[in-house]
Amino acid sequence: MQPDQEIVDRWSRSAPFWEKHRDIIRQMFAPITDALVEDAQIGSGQTVLDVGTGSGEPALTLADLVGAKGKVNAIDPIPGMVEGARREADRLGLENVQFDVAFADHLPFTAGTFDAAVSRLGAMFFPAPVDAVREILRVLKPGRKLALAVWSFAERNPFHSVLSEVMDRHVQPPPLAPDALEAFRFAPPGKLLEVFSQAGVTAPSERLLEFKIQTDHPVEAYWLFRREMSEKIREKLKELPAQQQAAVDRDALKALAPYYTGSGMSFPGEVLIVSGIKPHPAKGE
Ligand SMILES: C[S@@+](CC[C@H](N)C(=O)[O-])C[C@H]1O[C@@H](n2cnc3c(N)ncnc32)[C@H](O)[C@@H]1O
Repeated sequence: MQPDQEIVDRWSRSAPFWEKHRDIIRQMFAPITDALVEDAQIGSGQTVLDVGTGSGEPALTLADLVGAKGKVNAIDPIPGMVEGARREADRLGLENVQFDVAFADHLPFTAGTFDAAVSRLGAMFFPAPVDAVREILRVLKPGRKLALAVWSFAERNPFHSVLSEVMDRHVQPPPLAPDALEAFRFAPPGKLLEVFSQAGVTAPSERLLEFKIQTDHPVEAYWLFRREMSEKIREKLKELPAQQQAAVDRDALKALAPYYTGSGMSFPGEVLIVSGIKPHPAKGE
């Protein structure tokens, strides 16, 4: 199976849950969107690209920000994700955002279209990240910025790690291939930065964003939400007999309890924001 097909299968199964939980996802990752807006220098009236938009973020938030004189184009390879994002844009009556099915390394736009480009938590799943960043550069205007957000290390993101530790205790995790297309692929500092350099980005830079992942859930509801959202948790639970599933539930609730504040869940979170500029053509080009 080609890596692209694996990704399509994996994210297609997740699409209904990402649509169902869209509002929580938007709330949880809003600080990442704010950082991308800042680093890609996005403002009113601009034409902006969102790569790997999933159920429509940050594209839908950006559509508000760029306003009626601006435009947001967003792509994702999963038809189910794109259809869900279009439904939300229609519901909100947004006319300045368009969602298309595409992979990051084959963007359906002409060269030099965009004032800025972003991707929130998508780059880890690009099978050929240098090609993808080159392709994003192609569709950016010279001198404009791209900014991609990727997870820092799993253990610094307990919203993920406390539950993956519980699952791993019950179901032996398969060994990970080097550079596997998984959430923490670009956690090592400098790794995505090197991709930017190889792709020809000018002035590539990286910063660590520390933020809080917050939801209004009580512990039990948060666990139910994560059971649906995470493909890994869903798949592993399917393998277990009912009695062991009940043991997982107990362990998960115990592991999550310290992150309940009394009014909701709050986890420390860390992502890397990697950004840079599309070079101007050399004289004579
Ligand atoms: C973790 S989700 C992030 C979704 C959204 N950006 C957000 O922050 O809510 C990762 C997304 O990357 C998309 N993706 C996977 N491979 C991709 C590729 N080669 N090109 C573009 N997007 C891809 C997936 O379909 C999925 O929707």
